[in-house]
Amino acid sequence: MVTSKLDAYAVIGNPISHSKSPLIHTAFAQQTDQAMKYEAILSDTDKFNKTVANFRQQGGKGMNVTVPFKLDAYEFATHLTERAKLAQAVNTLKFEDNEILGDNTDGAGLVRDIETNLGIEINSKHVLLLGAGGAARGVILPILNQNPATLAIANRTPQKAQLLQQQFSSYGDIIPGGFMDFSGQQFDIIINATSASLNDALPALPSNIFTDGSLAYDMMYSNEPTRFLIFAQQNGAQHLADGIGMLVEQAAESFYLWRGVRPETKSIITHLKTLS
Ligand code: ATR
Repeated sequence: MVTSKLDAYAVIGNPISHSKSPLIHTAFAQQTDQAMKYEAILSDTDKFNKTVANFRQQGGKGMNVTVPFKLDAYEFATHLTERAKLAQAVNTLKFEDNEILGDNTDGAGLVRDIETNLGIEINSKHVLLLGAGGAARGVILPILNQNPATLAIANRTPQKAQLLQQQFSSYGDIIPGGFMDFSGQQFDIIINATSASLNDALPALPSNIFTDGSLAYDMMYSNEPTRFLIFAQQNGAQHLADGIGMLVEQAAESFYLWRGVRPETKSIITHLKTLS
């Protein structure tokens, strides 16, 4: 292949050296025979717009956006998908002639990982989402679109869960509360979207929300099981998953938006698990 003919994509963040996105997208491109390259770009926190504009001027076609720039990307985009609007955050930019499309593929990645990779349907299930920050907000619409029997949102600060209930009321019912409000209620799927695992902390959850059929899903991933997953297992959940599958699936969704081709994901998920 002639290098100059490759379409350029990148992930932008700060920090960025840990990002697995270049590995994932390069594997997708090889597998689907797409003439593209994908790099990681570190941007100063106050220079997001400039860094993106430079990349675009040099012929860049699209970007993934990670911490701390998802809100900057939301504001930078000239038009937004509905799921990005509701997430109030953008993790994927697509540069078109005079426009910049902002999308958010995180929720679709989560849903696809749960349904397709783990084989657990969300439809008619009792789902508990833990957290009411940016990560939680990003997955609400895709979960509601699967018609769960219940979507409860529990947060350390219950008022933030109530706010999400109001903001999403035209898309479906949400039961908001604090963690202990759900004591004694059992859920089929419990998703940790708090940032607690980042600090090796455990949200102050009731222990009686799991059944042996429950899936406990931590949107974070690390080499060792997170404290949330250990707690879930100790209290009866038999299906446990971390966020590696979601990471690969949100990337696949971005790749599809850019290239119109859906890559195969299972082999990359398996490969990443062997690296950790
Ligand atoms: P992110 O973009 O990762 O969601 P965020 O918007 O700062 O980050 O939100 C962090 C979320 O994790 C919030 O729901 C926060 O709870 P509060 O709203 O009460 O602050 C939650 N969180 C962080 N650390 C936590 C902990 N140790 N226990 C429980 N919840 C925690």
